Amino acid sequence: MPKRVLIPNALPAEARRAIPSEIEVDYSETDQPLTKAELIRRLQGKDGLICHIILTIDDEVLGACPSLKVVSNVAVGYNNIDVAAARRRGVVVTNTPDVLTETTADFAWALLMAAARRVAEADQYVRSDQWKVWKWDLLWGVDIHGKTLGVVGFGRIGRAVARRGQGFGMRVLYHDTVRADAATERELNASPTDLETLLRESDFVSLHTVLSPETRHLIDERTLRLMKRTAVLINAARGPVVNEAALVKALSERWIAGAGLDVFEEEPRVHPGLLPLRNVTLAPHIASASGDTRIAMATLAIRNCLAVLGGKPALTPVS
Ligand code: DGY
Repeated sequence: MPKRVLIPNALPAEARRAIPSEIEVDYSETDQPLTKAELIRRLQGKDGLICHIILTIDDEVLGACPSLKVVSNVAVGYNNIDVAAARRRGVVVTNTPDVLTETTADFAWALLMAAARRVAEADQYVRSDQWKVWKWDLLWGVDIHGKTLGVVGFGRIGRAVARRGQGFGMRVLYHDTVRADAATERELNASPTDLETLLRESDFVSLHTVLSPETRHLIDERTLRLMKRTAVLINAARGPVVNEAALVKALSERWIAGAGLDVFEEEPRVHPGLLPLRNVTLAPHIASASGDTRIAMATLAIRNCLAVLGGKPALTPVS
């Protein structure tokens, strides 16, 4: 029996070419997520699923698709998959770490710089023909160099962001459940601290934690109020780590100076209170979206799926 794989959303042809012809692929070149009923229907008789974060793979889906052996997520985050249910049902779950670390850190840094130096506002100012005379006090931002960077979640991406801070002569504070080794702390000029201290002392707070019951709304009204009035919050992790309603309040009432957001609580819906605010830079969940990295992610996801279907261990299983 040939192995059968469902790829229900667009994936680059460069990566799909790695799939051997003997594998039967049910592929759709679309960005629209399937409904749960449609997903279950298309998964019947399939051995593998290669999917994006827009699909929710819960226990009901897994239970209704007994032939499924592997769910290969084209993302490092996997909060769209019930990993415990998959494990119980003997389905391997894989993700795409490492290949997107630097690209994602680049974009978190881009958001940080854009928010600090008001790049989106400046662009809008020029395009809307408001620039009539050079003005001394136009669009003042805040300095980045020499400031304190607080990194919440000191995994691969958090550390890559901290490394960028070294180029700007920044002191780094980090908060994580696991302490980094001494060499890493020295290299990144980084000190571990509790969340409250990090929020009180940082000029820039960049979120790089996974989404879990413990981190949902980690940044809420209480924690936002701990931040400096001049601070900037960056979120390129997962939207629900921040309580968006509280952030709207913090930005409108200037408890903090600004924010840069790539992720949102209910994507693609953005809290309507954020849209009119000029002190927030918004992006449509594109932190890993460079051509090279997206192809690398797709290729790794395919290799993970093929490994499991070939009876081998996945390259990057979710543990
Ligand atoms: C990830 O990899 O988790 C991103 O958020 C989606 O590319």
